[in-house]
Amino acid sequence: MIRDLTDAEARRALILKWGVVDPDVIPAWVAEMDYATADVVTDALHAAIDAGQTGYPPVGAGGELGEAYAGWALRHFGHRVDPDHVMPVVDVTAGVRLALDVLSDPAPMVMPVPAYSPQLEIAQITGRERWDLVVDPDADHCVIDLDRLDRLLADGARTLLLTQPHNPWGRVFGRAELEGIRDVVTAHGARVISDEIHAPLVLPGREHVPYLSLPGAADHAVAVVASSKAFNTAGLKCAQVVAGDDATRDRLVAAPMARNDSWSSLGVVAAVAAYTHGDPWLAALRERLDRQRTLLGELLATHLPEAGMRPLEATYLAWLDLRAYAPTGPAGWDPAEVLLEKGRVRVAPGHDYHPGLGGHVRLNIATSPERLTEIVHRIAAALGA
Ligand SMILES: Cc1ncc(COP(=O)(O)O)c(C=O)c1O
Repeated sequence: MIRDLTDAEARRALILKWGVVDPDVIPAWVAEMDYATADVVTDALHAAIDAGQTGYPPVGAGGELGEAYAGWALRHFGHRVDPDHVMPVVDVTAGVRLALDVLSDPAPMVMPVPAYSPQLEIAQITGRERWDLVVDPDADHCVIDLDRLDRLLADGARTLLLTQPHNPWGRVFGRAELEGIRDVVTAHGARVISDEIHAPLVLPGREHVPYLSLPGAADHAVAVVASSKAFNTAGLKCAQVVAGDDATRDRLVAAPMARNDSWSSLGVVAAVAAYTHGDPWLAALRERLDRQRTLLGELLATHLPEAGMRPLEATYLAWLDLRAYAPTGPAGWDPAEVLLEKGRVRVAPGHDYHPGLGGHVRLNIATSPERLTEIVHRIAAALGA
C-alpha cells in the first residue's frame, strides 16, 4: 500500500523537499514523505476537480469536516468530539496563531524547546513574549519540567504551546504526564494550545492521548490538528482547531474573517477523505515507519556508533546528537552544513529548533530503506566516522 516514489517522481511531486536541492543531494529535511499519496485521497481530489470544486470552501465550524474529524478521533483515540467544535483553518501554524490571538491573554507564552522552528516566532507576531522551557540536550528523556512550568506561569506567562506528539523530540506524552501539565496550568488559570498534527503518526508501542480528552481540559484548551502530515498533503492547506466547549468555539468563530481565512476547498476534500477512508493506508504507513525506525537504529549502531538518539515514539523525524563527531568542539558547530557539502545529504540543522544549540540535526526517515541506508552511509563518510 505504501509506494516509494522514484527519484524522478519525488522531484516532480515534492517540489520543495526535492526541488530545491542539487540533483546529487538526497533530501531528508522538511517533513514530507517520499511516498505516493494515498489513493483514497487522490481519488477524492480527482472527483472534486471533475465536479469543478475550485471555489470557496464552506465557512464556520462543523459540517462534513467536523463529522469526519469526530469519527476519526473516536476510532483512533476513543475521544468523543462534538463535530460542531471543529473549525477549519489554513494550516496548523495559523491555527496556533489564531488560538493565541483570539483566546489567550496578552501575556507571555511558554514554549518547550527544541520546538518546530516556524512556531518559535508565533508569540512575537501576536505581540507576546516567548518564554522558553528548554530541555537539557544531555537528558536521556525529554520531559516538560513541571516546576519550571509552574514558575513561568507564576511569573506571568498565560499560555503553554504544547506539541504532542512532539517534533523534534519524537516523544508521545503519557496520560499521567499530561495530567501533571494540566494540573499546573489550571492552578494558574492559564491556557493550553495543543498542537497534535503528529497524532496520526504515533508508532507501535505508544498511544496518543488527546489533551482535550483529559477531565477538566475543555475550558482552557484547544487542539490544533490536521491530516496533512500523515497523508502528505501539506500544500493543500486545511487544518482544524478543535474547541473543548461551545464558548471557546464561539470566540473562534467570531474572529474577523481577515484573521482566519484561506483554507482551501481541496484541502477540505483531502482531509475528509483521509479521516473517513484513510485508516488502512495509515496502518500500512505506521508499519513502514516502524521498520524505518528499526533500520535507522541498526544503521546508526554500525556506522555512527557515537551518534545519540532518543527513542522515536512518533513522527518520522529523528533528532540526532552528533556532537561526538565535532572536529573542534560542538559549540556552534552545524553538522547540517558538513553533511550537505561533504555528504550530499540535506538534513535540518538542530539550531533551527533550538537556537544556539550546536551539533544536532533532524533527519527525516520517511523514505525507502535503500535511501535511508545511503543517507547514513553518506553521513558517516562526511563525518569521518
Ligand atoms: C509540530 C508541528 N506543527 C506544525 C507543523 C506544520 O504544519 P502546517 O504546515 O499545517 O502549519 C509541523 C510540520 O512539520 C510540525 O511538526
